Amino acid sequence: MKLAVVGATGLVGSEILEVLDEHNFPYDELLLVASERSVGKQIEYKGKKHTVIGLADAVAAKPEIAIFSAGGSTSLEWAPKFAEVGTFVIDNSSAWRMDPTKKLVVPEINAKEISKEDKIIANPNCSTIQMVLALEPLRQRYGIKRIVVSTYQSVTGTGKAAVDQMMAERSGDANPPMVYPHKIDMNVLPHIDVFQPNGYTKEEMKMINETKKIFSDNSIQVTSTTVRIPTMGGHSEAVNVEFKQDFDLAEVRSLLENAPGVIVQDDPTNFVYPMPITSHKKDEVFVGRLRRDESQPNTLNMWIVADNLRKGAATNAVQIAEYLLENKLV
Ligand SMILES: NC(=O)c1ccc[n+]([C@@H]2O[C@H](COP(=O)([O-])OP(=O)(O)OC[C@H]3O[C@@H](n4cnc5c(N)ncnc54)[C@H](OP(=O)(O)O)[C@@H]3O)[C@@H](O)[C@H]2O)c1
Repeated sequence: MKLAVVGATGLVGSEILEVLDEHNFPYDELLLVASERSVGKQIEYKGKKHTVIGLADAVAAKPEIAIFSAGGSTSLEWAPKFAEVGTFVIDNSSAWRMDPTKKLVVPEINAKEISKEDKIIANPNCSTIQMVLALEPLRQRYGIKRIVVSTYQSVTGTGKAAVDQMMAERSGDANPPMVYPHKIDMNVLPHIDVFQPNGYTKEEMKMINETKKIFSDNSIQVTSTTVRIPTMGGHSEAVNVEFKQDFDLAEVRSLLENAPGVIVQDDPTNFVYPMPITSHKKDEVFVGRLRRDESQPNTLNMWIVADNLRKGAATNAVQIAEYLLENKLV
């Protein structure tokens, strides 16, 4: 079993290596792949030195699974080449997510959709994954009519260069390398990814469209405002969800407590609620501030936090790879 990690030198790639190790993911050979800039570099992993290779050499090695986190254009060009030699590609970029021929998978929700023929499998957007995972048990029980979400997203969601910008600003650098159009430290940017003709950003449209695809339900109404804040541990979301029928708050809590991959942290009197600093490096999605929206029937307010590099990217991708192995699809 050969496993390739494409984008191994990046933020998500490094996190994938950590999660593979923590999950004891089984492989015989590990291929670490990055751009031509990194080919030949040595990466020490689990006490062994690995030399970074390029994409063409990785395809030639015909790995059984390749986990991609190297940007959309790399995925568009190279995922089909891996698929052609029989590799299962699990892709973290947005390149294939809305392609109707590709599965968009959060394993706890829809891994069963994957078949042997699905050689390119898309990992959803980080902010979508944590929201749909927390909503899934409630959707099953009450049905969802409408979701209103506002996000508070970590700079790690933009990649290494964005973390460098924030840290340079924080250390007083007068001319930091700029990734964002404005200063990010001590600031809030109501802008993630590129603006679309309808006034929404691409990140906002990803949350809207991917939610409908993962839930296989185009009737769910979703509206989103995505915001970048100067934090690192994970993304936070204020979610207002209107159900098709009334709910019982105690039952909501119990459904969430029993949902796979979800942890309830909701004890406001003791100041217990999810935060990026406590979700950092955790695989789970944390939910709290559960309360009825008193302005409208059948509507719940909740606060959802997860490490975007973990369940939002690396953990979800590794879980898909684990599903392929456990179900003998590889
Ligand atoms: N950060 C998140 O929370 C998050 C969540 C979900 C999905 N994603 C997606 O995951 C991908 C990577 O994000 P990141 O945050 O890890 O970015 P990053 O820190 O900038 O890392 C990018 C990685 O891609 C590699 N790469 C870039 N161009 C390449 C090329 N032409 N051929 C081969 N490898 C190439 C880089 O290699 P070099 O080091 O050689 O340049 C590096 O390993 C993006 O598509 C992003 O949208 C990110």
